Amino acid sequence: MPLPRVLSGIQPTADSFHLGNYLGALRQWVSLQESAEAFYCVVDLHAITLPQDPATLRRNTLVSAAQLLAIGVDPGRSALFVQSHVPEHVQLSWVLECLTGFGEASRMTQFKDKSQREGTGTASVGLFTYPVLQAADILVYQADEVPVGEDQRQHLELTRDLAVRFNGRFGQTFTVPTARIPQGAAKILDLQSPDKKMSKSLPPAGCIFLLDEPAVTAKKIRSAVTDTGREVVFDPENKAGVSNLLAIHSALSGQSIADLEAHFADSGYGDLKKEVAEVVTESLAPIRQRTQELLDDPAELERVLAAGAARAREVASRTVAEVYDRVGF
Ligand code: ADP
Ligand code: NA
Repeated sequence: MPLPRVLSGIQPTADSFHLGNYLGALRQWVSLQESAEAFYCVVDLHAITLPQDPATLRRNTLVSAAQLLAIGVDPGRSALFVQSHVPEHVQLSWVLECLTGFGEASRMTQFKDKSQREGTGTASVGLFTYPVLQAADILVYQADEVPVGEDQRQHLELTRDLAVRFNGRFGQTFTVPTARIPQGAAKILDLQSPDKKMSKSLPPAGCIFLLDEPAVTAKKIRSAVTDTGREVVFDPENKAGVSNLLAIHSALSGQSIADLEAHFADSGYGDLKKEVAEVVTESLAPIRQRTQELLDDPAELERVLAAGAARAREVASRTVAEVYDRVGF
């Protein structure tokens, strides 16, 4: 049995990825490599659905790729590449756009949210068709499985619908992908507003970036919002901040929540924060260091990404050739 094929992408971000990205998604990219043939990309085409400064976008794309390598994406095993380096994504996307109903695309709730944030009338057509490009990202590799969070379920449904529709109209061409619920993924909350998920869109004081200086990380954790109680117990409903710190500790140290509760039975929030800060900074230190080494040698990094793109294109170009033939090009 060949390994199942998986596709996952992440947008290049300013600064760096955060602990939520890492524990909720990227760490699973690393472990999935054991059991799947993985295609991982930094989706710069998706990034320009919102305005970007060119030099910053190019820099962020490289820094993002470096972080993926630093956390353990293995280019000897997986194809790691930049989306715009593989023109087949866009070539397939056009065909899929012509199969997507206007009303169908209009029902995508993420567009509604994002376009509202942009302001009425200013959102681009690219932002509107984003889910179709996402479908192309997946289908061009004939991916069997896609690791997705809740927020991406609707887009994966569209991808499946488009694959089934194309196959029905033009003959069996695409693998219809299924959602893969990431194993061991944790939802990490903002340190300042533990009623919200950690996000780069919230003020940085609540967000632990992978490349933050250790002193900055420790300060953010020391300043984390908790509650007026004293006991270190896991109770997400009533003690969201403390529970979030325990979850972060557990996810990084591998100790169970129950063990941690026992460990902190006789200590207070100050001790918890001190230890979480240690666990986080120790876990992130090698990632920061490796990212810096990779960025110090951009030629080598670009070579790795070019090899990843070449590997991706081997598969993607076969799909596009078949699709173009079937539609009558
Ligand atoms: P952000 O919310 O900072 O904009 P993205 O939406 O770009 O992050 O998310 C990229 C990936 O990281 C997605 O797979 C998403 O599910 C995951 N992710 C983002 N924030 C968190 C979080 N706080 N906890 C767990 N996973 C997260
Ligand atoms: Na987001």
